[in-house]
Amino acid sequence: MAARINCSIQNSLWLLNPLNSKARTHFRNRLKFRQNLFSLSKGAMFCTCSTNNDKTNTDSTDPFVLTTPLYYVNAPPHMGSAYTTIAADAIARFQRLSGKKVVFVTGTDEHGEKIAAAAAACGSSPSEHCEVISQAYKTLWKDLDIAYDKFIRTTDPKHEEIVKEFYSRVLANGDIYKADYEGLYCINCEEYKDEKELLENHYCPIHLKPCVARKEDNYFFALSKYQKPLEETLTQNPDFVQPSFRLNEVQSWIKSGLRDFSISRASVDWGIPIPNDDKQTVYVWFDALLGYISALSENKDQPNLQTAVSSGWPASLHLIGKDILRFHAVYWPAMLMSAGLAIPKKVFGHGFLTKDGMKMGKSLGNTLEPNELVHNFGPDAVRYFFLKEVEFGNDGDYSEDRFINIVNAHLANTIGNLLNRTLGLLRKNCQSTLVVDSTIAAEGTAFKDNVEKLVENARFHYENLSLSSACEAVLEIGNAGNSYMDERAPWSLFKQGGAASETAAKDLVIILEAMRIIAVALSPVTPNLSWRIYEQIGYSKDQFNSATWSDTKWGGLKGGQVMAQPKPIFARIEQRAETEDGSEPAARQVEKNKGKPKAKAVAEA
Ligand code: MSP
Repeated sequence: MAARINCSIQNSLWLLNPLNSKARTHFRNRLKFRQNLFSLSKGAMFCTCSTNNDKTNTDSTDPFVLTTPLYYVNAPPHMGSAYTTIAADAIARFQRLSGKKVVFVTGTDEHGEKIAAAAAACGSSPSEHCEVISQAYKTLWKDLDIAYDKFIRTTDPKHEEIVKEFYSRVLANGDIYKADYEGLYCINCEEYKDEKELLENHYCPIHLKPCVARKEDNYFFALSKYQKPLEETLTQNPDFVQPSFRLNEVQSWIKSGLRDFSISRASVDWGIPIPNDDKQTVYVWFDALLGYISALSENKDQPNLQTAVSSGWPASLHLIGKDILRFHAVYWPAMLMSAGLAIPKKVFGHGFLTKDGMKMGKSLGNTLEPNELVHNFGPDAVRYFFLKEVEFGNDGDYSEDRFINIVNAHLANTIGNLLNRTLGLLRKNCQSTLVVDSTIAAEGTAFKDNVEKLVENARFHYENLSLSSACEAVLEIGNAGNSYMDERAPWSLFKQGGAASETAAKDLVIILEAMRIIAVALSPVTPNLSWRIYEQIGYSKDQFNSATWSDTKWGGLKGGQVMAQPKPIFARIEQRAETEDGSEPAARQVEKNKGKPKAKAVAEA
């Protein structure tokens, strides 16, 4: 009896909403839906959504909240997953240097069919499997010097509480209903697909695996209701989606008509139970997106949506790959609007790392092993190569030869060798001690102006997420330093003695000041290398750790400062020699050395 009454209340609520009747017609016409009777969730009766308070958290003292996607734990991380995290870490470090309080969120997405299947294939329980793989992510982040603030696992009980509360809010807002759905599902994308976006034989174009036909009785989120609000948001705030060419993509999805999507699974046990219907679990995407909010909740707090939201929501920036743009720029803002919460300030969709032109990925099995790269070449080389050589936003291909050439040319030669030869000359001619302040040394030279201009370019590019251009601007300082050194030839001035020798000693101060600035300006990308530069020019770890972007101003090095004994700060990666008959591909030698390319000391001047 109670159940029948509940059904009718829910049905009446649904029918009273004009948007819902429009949506129903839409489903019948386009999606082979059959409307079901509704069962009432108690959440609808008890939830009191507050809306406006949550939307105003945007003043300038807000923390800079930055997120990576929460990575699926179906397999250990690969270089594609590491890429977003490296970029996020560089941005977070830059914002910290600029004086912002930063909350850098990352984590793992642990529910759903794909994860349950991966666990079963390894003979583990889903929770054991998740534990192992999420730990593999944490270990890799440590090895790559990723300084995150929050690591959220979607199996964390606090997350579950927040998902349930959010679901109840959306339900109370009349945006959840039950219906039959029949469609083609890609398990790897964890998404129903439109037949027209698939390849022959219903193959998913991203994973090159067949989608499976599914028919389910699911709960749906009324996305179609948010078509207009989303259109308006994008018109009022065109910077919401970046790079700008991805905004066009999002606008055209919305324009082509938004369809409600299923937010529960009847066939999946490994997930958060739907409030008041434990026969269904929450759809993995509806669940995972909320990780961005539950991550903010402090462990000491009783987990609830409001306290999590007041700890930093809305996010300043979601960094994601282009394949998950629709979830972040369409589904997620609509879900937040429904729950009366602010939408993130910006979503940046970067490109793919490819191998032979194909997206590198766990499902395709064409991945690059980040642990091996870090082990062979160190975290700075890996971070620098991918941020400098792949324009952030576009796709980029990896090749080992290119990796070695770039890293040797930029980090070992342009930066490392310049520092080393300058310190060598200083030791030989000035007892490793600076003769004057760098400000005095640079008086009347154009070099200082050039460095200031390049540093400002770097700042501008970091701020605008043009990470490759930021690296380029810093590298230009190194190039300018090398040209200055070659033009001035201080080694021959020292030989002349007298005034020429004094000039040479000042020239060394100028170059070392440029090196100091490089260290600070490149520290978001190469934190270790930057520290080694700082150490060589006579600073302590504490001084390095307390550096801010204002330390990129000319004038930090003072007369009398004593430099360390010169030692190479970045070992050249030795190019593999060919075999005697010259026929072996270079890569074979890495195999033979099992990932131990020789590090060769950089030459001193
Ligand atoms: N679990 C979801 C995200 C949920 S966020 C609330 C997911 N996980 S994923 O592990 O499949 O992908 C995570 C991120 O890695 C995505 O942004 C994806 O674009 C990125 N990459 C995976 N392979 C990649 C490349 N080959 N290149 C660059 N990034 C790619 O999606």
